[in-house]
Amino acid sequence: MSKGNNKAQMPKRQINIAVFVSGNGTNLQALLDAEKRILQSGKIKLVVSNRGEAYALKRAQSKGVEAVYLDPKDCTDYEESLLQLLQERQIELIVLAGYLHILSAAFIEHFPNRIINIHPSLLPAFGGKDYYGIKVHEAVIAAGVKVSGATTHFVTAAVDSGPIIDQKTVRVLARDTAYSLQQRVLQKAEWILLPRSVEKVARKLLQAKEI
Ligand code: GRF
Repeated sequence: MSKGNNKAQMPKRQINIAVFVSGNGTNLQALLDAEKRILQSGKIKLVVSNRGEAYALKRAQSKGVEAVYLDPKDCTDYEESLLQLLQERQIELIVLAGYLHILSAAFIEHFPNRIINIHPSLLPAFGGKDYYGIKVHEAVIAAGVKVSGATTHFVTAAVDSGPIIDQKTVRVLARDTAYSLQQRVLQKAEWILLPRSVEKVARKLLQAKEI
């Protein structure tokens, strides 16, 4: 056997991925850091934010990934502008990573089973339009449940209700505040679960194309 033959085999083609963000972008960072390791079947080609101040845009730029700020208030038709951008970049899979904008059913229909969302609870618990950000973890603590975690799922028109791709649990500790729980769910569940889930879906899309 020749030296250097122990490297993981990279697939010939990769699925073009866009990540939609609104804020800090630690999940985006986890995806960028997972490229060529966990995430081998897809390549992040584009990051889109609906907020100009989102730090996630800087994370993308520092990895040399195209970062676009599209202000929903500036566009006559925000989703039409989004669609055009995605088509121009030949995007095949979208990841919502802390994207605080609800996409219409018409937009979602363009990408059936091709939009992945990550939610910081074990869906269907603590999901829906009123559960976002720290509110999710406040509700978990108020309910007194002992296990929380994160869920990846396909996006459908009903918020946080599409088919579940995968879940990862974390313990809720007696001393937890919403903030400490949020941090543990991010670090021990979301940043691990999201790259794995995106790889799983991208790999399936590649296999489907080979047939
Ligand atoms: C994460 O908790 C994610 O599950 C939720 O929004 C948060 C985004 O965090 N949808 P970040 O911007 O990835 O740091």
